[in-house]
Amino acid sequence: MALINWNDSLSVDVKEIDLQHRKLIDMINELNDAMKTGKGKDVLRTIVNGLISYTATHFKKEEQYFEKFGYPDTANHKKEHVGFVKKVTDFKDGFEKGNLPLSVEVMNFLSDWLKNHIKGTDKKYSKFFNEKGLK
Ligand SMILES: [Fe+2]
Repeated sequence: MALINWNDSLSVDVKEIDLQHRKLIDMINELNDAMKTGKGKDVLRTIVNGLISYTATHFKKEEQYFEKFGYPDTANHKKEHVGFVKKVTDFKDGFEKGNLPLSVEVMNFLSDWLKNHIKGTDKKYSKFFNEKGLK
């Protein structure tokens, strides 16, 4: 069963960014399934690496638009991105050292963070981007 399901309450009213968010959700669900079905370390590592790399791509895209359009909340928003990358990198390091297995708590953290970030922080840029013609 999917850990997070996409629905309209997660839309930020920018097509390209919605698609990226959907992909992140798919990747978190894939990681959750792999963990729950007891997939090996190599499989989990591949998915985690993919998630880290796609997260970086996605954050960069948002931040490029902040810069391009002079988004007023850029500093605060970027700080949240940095915090998340740090947290996920810590999970990954722990996982590699074998002292912190990927757990239900980790998966809940990832899915809750993404949902809350989209609904709370990302949605703040919808109107601003739409007014700049980004939809
Ligand atoms: Fe964001």
